[in-house]
Amino acid sequence: MIEIENITKRYGDNTVVDTVSMTVEPHTITVIVGTSGSGKTTLMRMINRLVEPSEGMIRIDGADNRSIPGYELRRHIGYAIQGHGLFPHRTVGENIATVPTLLGWDKKRIAAKVEELLTLFQLDPSAFGPRYPHELSGGQQQRVGVARALAAEPNILLMDEPFGALDPVIRAKAQDDLLAIQKHFGTTIVLVTHDMEEAFHLADKIAVMDKGRIVQCAAPEEMLVNPATDFVETLIGTEERPFRLLSIGTAGDAAEAGEAQGEPIAASLSQREALSSLLWSGREALPVVGSDGAPLGRVTLAGLARRAARPQ
Ligand SMILES: Nc1ncnc2c1ncn2[C@@H]1O[C@H](COP(=O)(O)OP(=O)(O)OP(=O)(O)O)[C@@H](O)[C@H]1O
Ligand SMILES: [Mg+2]
Repeated sequence: MIEIENITKRYGDNTVVDTVSMTVEPHTITVIVGTSGSGKTTLMRMINRLVEPSEGMIRIDGADNRSIPGYELRRHIGYAIQGHGLFPHRTVGENIATVPTLLGWDKKRIAAKVEELLTLFQLDPSAFGPRYPHELSGGQQQRVGVARALAAEPNILLMDEPFGALDPVIRAKAQDDLLAIQKHFGTTIVLVTHDMEEAFHLADKIAVMDKGRIVQCAAPEEMLVNPATDFVETLIGTEERPFRLLSIGTAGDAAEAGEAQGEPIAASLSQREALSSLLWSGREALPVVGSDGAPLGRVTLAGLARRAARPQ
């Protein structure tokens, strides 16, 4: 659990994070969104003490983070940032191995972890492990950055626009991998993004920042129904609301009893993707299947329309 209490950061006269309080529950994903320069990165970097606050306190699992040396904190909190986070003179494999090496893991365990993560992020370990960061594309570097943050299986993962440079296909895959990893390890994640669709897809809670303050921190559904300010409403995009609702749930959640003809929809897809498939196929219903291909019922246009309507 991360408890942020009245945290303020000033640079000279400029208050860039202004008395922010927020609790991140264990095993959840909190997504921070907001305008550029609103203080998202600064807030996140105060959690792992890359930035020291001017006022306030942050507790990690009950302990004041100032009671733990910064380097120690950063070994136990994964941190992934957009671009330039990799050590240029270390190979991809060495980059990913950084924290496990510091923690004294044995060589075999480290090698297995590196291989597992490269494979997970669709980078062939034998081809990419020995390369240097400059020999990778921006998107490949970004995936290595996320892999490095995950290497020591941290309880807490901070991610600052981790998927910004990925193409839409790999981005969707990376998001789903992250959800799977989070489920598997119960990781507590704080993630910054500019992509509202990503925010609604990933978040248990969304925190909206504006001018150094958190103007609303709420579950996605709650934010859609009761945006705290005009700014939040604009950010959500009024005309997007029904689709945002569908982005939150999976096709599996929306599955109804019954059969249907046509190309099956994977239960892990979002309801928004399911709606898209229904509209595009021109059908009223499509079958839903689990990851093992087992039939789980069907999703229907009428059922999704009910779910896209304003919650009562
Ligand atoms: N070391 C610093 N010294 C002075 N001002 C800083 C420093 N770091 C950040 N700032 C200022 O603090 C404000 C918040 O910056 P921050 O990087 O937290 O914004 P952000 O919300 O992450 O923006 P973006 O979406 O563009 O990444 C900005 O106005 C920035 O110029
Ligand atoms: Mg930032």
